[in-house]
Amino acid sequence: MAKPIALAADHGGFELKEAVKAHLDEQGIEYIDFGTNSTASVDYPDMALPACDAVVSGQCEKALLFCGTGVGMSMAANKVKGIRACCCSDSFSCEYTRRHNDANALCLGGRVVGAGLAIQLVDIFLHTEYEGGRHARRVAKLAEIENR
Ligand code: RB5
Repeated sequence: MAKPIALAADHGGFELKEAVKAHLDEQGIEYIDFGTNSTASVDYPDMALPACDAVVSGQCEKALLFCGTGVGMSMAANKVKGIRACCCSDSFSCEYTRRHNDANALCLGGRVVGAGLAIQLVDIFLHTEYEGGRHARRVAKLAEIENR
């Protein structure tokens, strides 16, 4: 990984973030943890924004975002210009959102997926390349929507 991975969670995703961090440590993958650092209640948009900004600015390569469902994080992340976030709980979607959508943020639900599945999804997300080609036209159209 050329750049670190941005991590962020709310209280609903905190424990899953910690499990994924342990996995990234084992793999020697660098990350920046933008919090939260406990199960105390926080608001997922506040947590998503610094991690997404780090991806858009080029400081981080991709973001891994965690909340109770993964959905709130994905909604917040997709409001950030330049972020293409997906909320996944299956490996097929996770693989193809990298291959076809060039997704740069993966959102996981701490109340939806267990640590074992989450780690499998993270590995797929971090190691699957974007195919480009015909998909580039469609991804460019996503950016056009942001620029309306
Ligand atoms: C927090 O209770 C919960 O709403 C949040 O973690 C997330 O699931 C929202 O989408």
